[in-house]
Amino acid sequence: MSLLEQIDKERLPQHVAVIMDGNGRWAKEKGKLRVFGHQNGVVAVRDTVEGAVELGIKYLTLYAFSTENWNRPRLEVMALMELLVSTISKETKTLMENGVRLNAIGNLSTLPEKCRKQLLETIKKTSSNTNCTLTLALSYSSRWEITDAAKRIAIKVRDGEIKAEDITEDIFGDHLNTAGIPDPELMIRTSGEHRISNYLLWQIAYAELYFTSKLWPDFRRQDLFEAVIDYQKRERRFGMTSEQLN
Ligand code: FPP
Repeated sequence: MSLLEQIDKERLPQHVAVIMDGNGRWAKEKGKLRVFGHQNGVVAVRDTVEGAVELGIKYLTLYAFSTENWNRPRLEVMALMELLVSTISKETKTLMENGVRLNAIGNLSTLPEKCRKQLLETIKKTSSNTNCTLTLALSYSSRWEITDAAKRIAIKVRDGEIKAEDITEDIFGDHLNTAGIPDPELMIRTSGEHRISNYLLWQIAYAELYFTSKLWPDFRRQDLFEAVIDYQKRERRFGMTSEQLN
């Protein structure tokens, strides 16, 4: 039975979040510069997005650039920004063919103008696609996002738009960058690291975590399928007992 046939389409995660890690190590293994790893990471992004569409996953969120990544060598940061612009531009056609809507979260005002412009252009162009929402986390960190939400809520309280005692988890969630997107049920991290690295901390409260030793440039749709098969074997209890679930 193929991997795809082993998946129960009725119990798919709606939202899969991915920490794409290991580009640098992949390049180093081959005696190449880190940028070569990022370039090959794009191949993995394309295949994973196509795999998500093939499977019927409605939301895919990729950690493409963290707030902390700004501290990398200037040349690497510049190369990553260039790669983002060129990839988003080149892949717009594929996104349209696959019915994928592009979205972005993070402090987008810190991105170079060229990058933000290309991003917003493709977001607009793909806005009516309905097969899958591909969210790129760019200049993103969860603590930044949560602090930003707290600030905006505080301003509303100050201005009398909302009462402090009326703040609920739902209202808080509506002030995060991911407002309107269901929480991920599955979070994948590549490269053998077992960390969350400031990614979607609020949203992954109940997510199943899946770690693979594959380095990101080697990741393909079959690896996504394997992660989903593993997810479907788990019992999601949300604090209840097995007996209550059955
Ligand atoms: C982590 O590997 C990867 C990144 C910081 C960048 C991810 C970017 C891409 C896959 C390319 C462009 C993406 C899109 C969506 C167009 P690392 O450099 O931290 O690897 P290391 O841990 O081995 O050093």
